[in-house]
Amino acid sequence: MNKYKIGRVLVNEEKTKETVERLGRQIYEDFKESNRELIIVGLLKGSFIFMADLVRAIDLPLTVDFITVSSYGNGTVSNSNVKLVMDLDTSIEDKDVIIVEDIVDTGRTFKKIIQMMSNRQPHTLKSCSFLSKPSRRVVEIEVDYIGVEIEDEFVVGYGMDYAQRYRNIPCVTVLEES
Ligand code: IMP
Ligand code: MG
Repeated sequence: MNKYKIGRVLVNEEKTKETVERLGRQIYEDFKESNRELIIVGLLKGSFIFMADLVRAIDLPLTVDFITVSSYGNGTVSNSNVKLVMDLDTSIEDKDVIIVEDIVDTGRTFKKIIQMMSNRQPHTLKSCSFLSKPSRRVVEIEVDYIGVEIEDEFVVGYGMDYAQRYRNIPCVTVLEES
């Protein structure tokens, strides 16, 4: 028996598309004058669908890379123990770097990763998250590009999971107890 079921749609496909296009344009405007290498770094696994859409909305030469950080396990609550499980293939030194996350909740994961990456001396380091739950923040963190701010609800779809499931739902839905 499943304890959870898919609830209402929070960000539909149309809003998703609009949001990604807006973020792509913002990034384009901010980096079009730069003559450095632009590298978009996705946090796996949650960002993979957003990443795929986002990079296609950025009309600039760029490369992509990915990192994997240890996550929740199978729960819906994060812990403060964030670890790098798989590192980048390439050096980010002197490059323009944008780190891409699916959702910023407490902020711990993104903060830790941003700290780690900034130690590697990128020329610029920006952060981008498709979703943000500002009311859940426990650490202070500034995210440069935010797609949609949402209330304190656990969501799945558009790459986001519960116990590794539901990532393939094409929009963002609320996970409800059944
Ligand atoms: P934080 O460290 O608490 O900010 O947690 C960030 C990570 O927790 C994100 O990368 C997500 O993978 C996961 N997460 C947080 N909230 C949700 C949610 O509502 N649905 C799915 N995953 C979530
Ligand atoms: Mg994640």
